[in-house]
Amino acid sequence: MTDTFDTVLVVDFGAQYAQLIARRVREAHVYSEIVPHTITAEEIRAKNPVGVIFSGGPASVHAEKAPLIDPAVYDLGTPVLGICYGAQLVALQLGGEVAKTGRGEYGRTSLTVTGESVLFGHDQPEEQPVWMSHFDTMTQAPPGFVVTARTPDTPAAVIESVERKIYGMQFHPEVGHTPHGQEMLKHFLYDVCQARPTWTMSSVIETQVELIRKQVGSERVICALSGGVDSAVAAALVHKAIGPQLTCVYVDTGLMREGESDQVVETFQRNLKIELQHVRAADRFFEKLAGVTDPEEKRKAIGMRFIREFETSARGLEDARFLVQGTLYPDVIESGTPDAAKIKSHHNVGGLPEDLNFELVEPLRLLFKDEVRRVGEELGLPEEIVWRQPFPGPGLGVRIIGEVTPERAELLRKADAIVREEVKKAGLEREIWQVFAVLLADVRSVGVMGDERTYGHPVVVRAVTSDDAMTADWARLPYELLEKLSSRIINEVPGINRVAYDVTSKPPGTIEWE
Ligand code: XMP
Repeated sequence: MTDTFDTVLVVDFGAQYAQLIARRVREAHVYSEIVPHTITAEEIRAKNPVGVIFSGGPASVHAEKAPLIDPAVYDLGTPVLGICYGAQLVALQLGGEVAKTGRGEYGRTSLTVTGESVLFGHDQPEEQPVWMSHFDTMTQAPPGFVVTARTPDTPAAVIESVERKIYGMQFHPEVGHTPHGQEMLKHFLYDVCQARPTWTMSSVIETQVELIRKQVGSERVICALSGGVDSAVAAALVHKAIGPQLTCVYVDTGLMREGESDQVVETFQRNLKIELQHVRAADRFFEKLAGVTDPEEKRKAIGMRFIREFETSARGLEDARFLVQGTLYPDVIESGTPDAAKIKSHHNVGGLPEDLNFELVEPLRLLFKDEVRRVGEELGLPEEIVWRQPFPGPGLGVRIIGEVTPERAELLRKADAIVREEVKKAGLEREIWQVFAVLLADVRSVGVMGDERTYGHPVVVRAVTSDDAMTADWARLPYELLEKLSSRIINEVPGINRVAYDVTSKPPGTIEWE
């Protein structure tokens, strides 16, 4: 990327394995980039990587349309590490054998080191657990290669040619179930590729600051803050680079979580001294939402209003030519790599259309979410913002099932605040991907409180664990916590007389209710 960072390319053979490998490489402080397997050797050479890693993939190397790689890659002299499918590809393309033994291996198995290998260094045990997930099996190393480890069902579990700097591992070093996996990756990166461990968040900040300054010169830049992590970190980074040239716009839709607006103003205006236009637009949003119950119509109404508010605010900043966006690396590769499954397309609500005539500044384009959080911490943003859970652009609007009114938003905000507070107190906030309340505004049920009959609305508590929001499981919250949530919500939020817990995973459900 720049002279500061060595690059390792991770070739994507499908099914999301590549992202995890890329993250592990970066955790070893080496910059990594994901590329499609259709990349040519020439294109790889042009990127000047210090090493190339082939990811795993769902296909069989023997399948008719099995994804291959330009075999000229092996002659570039750049170190290559194949993992799982990637290892089988190395074996097959260089003349070894991959057989359908009918005995695949799935899950934990025991690896026995049978020869000296730089990948194991001198500190790993001769027998160690590794994580396997394959059907075909490497049975013979290619000519010129040696086998340095085996498992009960894979005679050639690690193959290598020290001379050609080409390595293959049948197991997955990138997963937590392979306890020495990260060490092996590090040996490959540092000892084989001679990569310099310079990818640290402070050097990322330094480099981005320089790039931002170069891009925008002395022009004015605007940034729409959403209250979420990505736009907050992007704004703080741009501010570090160009100070008073940055103006932030925060559109308060009336559909934010409790305390969110105050915190944005407090952090950006008072603490960081960033110029902030706080647009108080709740009334105008509720006006547009009157009578709207269809989820898609709601999203559209909120999205359109957001754009109008932003435009009005930006009109006072006519000299602004640049717009900051908190685009992350997974957004970039999802659209650019044919092998990663296409995941979502409906999440632009709360974003801005492309024809606004700004040039984009995207300082987080190369970063994964965990890296963005670390950059945020390093820039001194408060923990509440850096560790904030994802929140949909249309806000509480898609968590009120039925018409959205200010009163209903207030009810939900109160219930939601209790849920988040109790989960935080229980120390589960970071473990849980998202936890929130949903108001079933059109449903009422009978209850009894004291001597009185009640007829109120139910609140549904939704808590999910997930790695990336593409799939999710309902969180097994402790009963004591659920009990606390339920009694506090019913006692403290008038109008709510019932609490239900959502036990639906994704798929078949989605995380949000609308
Ligand atoms: P679903 O409900 O599709 O949500 O399982 C997946 C993730 O996306 C978030 N989400 C949104 N984010 N604008 C956003 O910026 C939206 O319109 C939107 N809808 C859902 C949701 O909170 C979850 O993290």
